[in-house]
Amino acid sequence: MQKRALITGVTGQDGSYLSELLLEKGYDVHGTIRRSSVDFRERIAHLEDNPRFHLHYADLGDSMSLMKVIGKVRPHEIYNLAAQSHVQVSFDVPEFTADVDATGVLRILEAVRQCGLADSCRIYQASTSELYGKVESVPQNEETPFHPYSPYAVAKLYGYWIVREYREAYGMFCCSGILFNHESERRGETFVTRKITLAAARIAQGKQRKLLLGNLSSRRDWGYAKDYVECMWLMLQNDIPEDFVIATGEQYSVRDFCRLAFHYAGIELRFEGEGENERGIDTATGRVVVEVSPDFYRPTDVVNLLGDPSKAMRRLGWNPKRTTFPELVRIMVESDMAKVAAERAGEQVRVNLAEYLEKGILK
Ligand code: NAP
Ligand code: GDD
Repeated sequence: MQKRALITGVTGQDGSYLSELLLEKGYDVHGTIRRSSVDFRERIAHLEDNPRFHLHYADLGDSMSLMKVIGKVRPHEIYNLAAQSHVQVSFDVPEFTADVDATGVLRILEAVRQCGLADSCRIYQASTSELYGKVESVPQNEETPFHPYSPYAVAKLYGYWIVREYREAYGMFCCSGILFNHESERRGETFVTRKITLAAARIAQGKQRKLLLGNLSSRRDWGYAKDYVECMWLMLQNDIPEDFVIATGEQYSVRDFCRLAFHYAGIELRFEGEGENERGIDTATGRVVVEVSPDFYRPTDVVNLLGDPSKAMRRLGWNPKRTTFPELVRIMVESDMAKVAAERAGEQVRVNLAEYLEKGILK
């Protein structure tokens, strides 16, 4: 039997990798998209010719659109990846973040029930290490207490608990992956890793003078997104619905990431000073290429995330070390070096909208 999967947030970093994985596994993949005034879909453009890849308009803030798409597709598996996923932005749009990241999860669960799929459809919820927030112990595992520390994390905490509630109240197969930060060459350009790799590539090629960052001492457990989407799938193939921490078990600071990214771009950095006066200096030229700007400080910042992936290794057979930290940084820098070089050469990098219109994908 051909399995049907529905992915919300298909245009995002994880949605694009998960689509590739499920298509490789023979699934019929349905993704939800939403209307936007700049409607190019760089991350999934290469999939749109695949006859097993389908797109539907829906929004997590609109229960009727969710009921419609879930009732029409009748998926065997739903991966709820859609979210306002930027932590700093959640301080600026807290109500929208709550509507999408908290109530949106409830809308999916209830739509599955209302469509009569509670017994047949398995649901993955994209939960997050941000739940640990102002961390109460290090490393963090499935038993570590939560202390959310941003409007984003508080909204995601509701998502986590409503999934548990539907599992216990209605016996639904729904579970949360508590994923630590995962990055890639497809990462949004305002998350710190991609901001750094893109800036390192631009600075190395003379297109940018300086990179402004916030808290350089913040520490994260960074993995490769392509490895992490496999875990999402494994969680829905498990015999029972359970929540899992997905992480590498290694931790680095933003400063460490910066040093390594610039190294792969051909620039050796030396950091000097403290706090707002800290600077990253190109050791070859003595030029300041990294500065701290309080604009990127958060009202409350999560600074010490380190995951313990033992349960996922034991129960799902997942390997957290498939892509190492240096490999991840190198992949991202190489990709951005090539993109910046192509832009400099005047090549078309963005997807051409006309193609979508011709295929009738855009309305
Ligand atoms: P991302 O690149 O920001 O993608 C988010 C996706 O959600 C996009 O497809 C976006 O659509 C969609 N979306 C946003 N608001 C929506 C709405 N109201 N209705 C429908 N779709 C909406 O995020 P990601 O890095 O792939 O992360 C995927 C999920 O995992 C998110 O839920 C995130 O919070 C969670 N997570 C991520 C990480 C990480 O390190 N990447 C770690 C833990 C948890 P548009 O393209 O139209 O904006
Ligand atoms: N974005 C950003 N920009 N972050 C900066 C900067 C900067 O210029 N300078 C320092 N940082 C610090 C932030 O303060 C934070 O402590 C850390 O770098 C990581 O920030 P992000 O890359 O924006 O990611 P995040 O950890 O806040 O959130 C991501 O990971 C979560 C999982 O822990 C997102 O993908 C969330 O959706 C996800 O849940």
